[in-house]
Amino acid sequence: MLCMTFRYAEHTLLLEKENMSVPNVAIKLISQAQTCEERFLRQIFVRDQMATWSKQPLIMARADGVHYWDVAGKQYLDALSGIYVVSLGHNNRRVIEAIHRQLDLTHFSPVMHGTNPPAVQLANLLAELAPGDLSAVKFQCGGSEVTEAAIKIARQYHKLTGHPGKYKIISRYQSWHGSTLGSLSASGLKSRKTVNEPLAPGFLHVFPPTCYRCPFDKTHPECDITCATIVGDVIDAEDAETVAAVMVEPIGHTGGIIDPPDEYLPILREVCDRHNVLLIFDEIITGAGRTGRMFAAETFGVLPDVICTAKGLGGGYAPISAMICRRHIADVFWSEEPDNPGFVEGHTFEGNPISCAAALAVLQEIIERDVLANVRRQGARLREHFERLAEKYDVIGDIRGKGLLQGVELVRDRETKEQFPADNPLGLRVGRRALENGLLCRFDPHWIAFGPPLISTDDEIDQMVEVLDRSFEEVLSESGERTATR
Ligand SMILES: Cc1ncc(COP(=O)(O)O)c(C=O)c1O
Repeated sequence: MLCMTFRYAEHTLLLEKENMSVPNVAIKLISQAQTCEERFLRQIFVRDQMATWSKQPLIMARADGVHYWDVAGKQYLDALSGIYVVSLGHNNRRVIEAIHRQLDLTHFSPVMHGTNPPAVQLANLLAELAPGDLSAVKFQCGGSEVTEAAIKIARQYHKLTGHPGKYKIISRYQSWHGSTLGSLSASGLKSRKTVNEPLAPGFLHVFPPTCYRCPFDKTHPECDITCATIVGDVIDAEDAETVAAVMVEPIGHTGGIIDPPDEYLPILREVCDRHNVLLIFDEIITGAGRTGRMFAAETFGVLPDVICTAKGLGGGYAPISAMICRRHIADVFWSEEPDNPGFVEGHTFEGNPISCAAALAVLQEIIERDVLANVRRQGARLREHFERLAEKYDVIGDIRGKGLLQGVELVRDRETKEQFPADNPLGLRVGRRALENGLLCRFDPHWIAFGPPLISTDDEIDQMVEVLDRSFEEVLSESGERTATR
């Protein structure tokens, strides 16, 4: 503690004496040793495997627009918006000033007793922007908290409407809904679940619409969209009176940008209606404009009962998430006590004024600068680039996604769709090389994805793809892998 006080004093002195610019101060905030020596890095959990990460630690010191600079001064192009969060890019003055103004008014108000003006304004703006009658909003701070809230509202809704036995949640393998116990139980990502098992009871999983590798060995459209219709069969088999909700990401992220065929979500909607089961869209990534509409529900033309959104909503300037539900659900909670306890769910920092002021400014920017049109335009540009890369490199087997959420699946053999073996994970090699070359993107052994800031320009998208292209070129030529030049 003494040490920290001393360092803080030292830092203040530095500011006064040298009249340093903010970026330089940020870099000097921690010493060179603290950025790379194990004894300092051991004090913090960052990545899953810290021993591996700490060999080449990445510590960002400042950011502007679509760029980051690490503590060593190296510049990175941010083709991932942080992690689908920094929707308006870094250093957006309008959002920063909105936060400053709110700090001067009030930085916190007690959720136990009420709310604050930015929260009421933001709820009303979201109600206006969300499709259909999605209009009652519960704020939280992160994605896991709102997917958890959606699970709870589904269960409470059925209890209050005379179906107390409806509690099961159906979601998909390979999905990610968060890391709290309920959201993790709904998730279908083996690598993150097994280690935490046993998880909560009442969660079932079905296979996702991975058309490129159909789990039913069928081909679209002759498949009759079995991956969607089977959800009805599962509800039947479980007994519909025990099933509360189906929760899906409109475009799955983990699993490699799982973009469903057009018929998929409308079929889920029909199945849920038929069985009095709520349809929840996890739009933690796809919400707030990423697919070129404010919500992916609009991109796919399907109205869910509940939308959960987070990451891009606050643009990374402050943590905020929102669960938005339809009128008929909200109305059930709007009656006199004691028959109705209301929606029993809450966290200390939900709807705090700073986060709500940030999100209001983010949404105003999206609307006034017509950011959604830019997402559609840049999404088309990104798709063309990926198609060009697929002509150049035959390790690109498939291109998927919408707007500024797109990725490529990597294969060793395009004909057979054989994957690269575990000891030669091409996606990791290319992604790591891209990082060395100054590009942040999402990479996995078998896929690579881009989710650039929604305000990215033509030049910036071109530069991001150029670095990816160079990284493919370098890795493939080093290992003598085939690169088709047709
Ligand atoms: C689709 C989806 N849902 C939920 C979450 C959980 O959000 P958080 O990490 O903010 O709790 C994530 C996080 O990556 C996500 O991608």
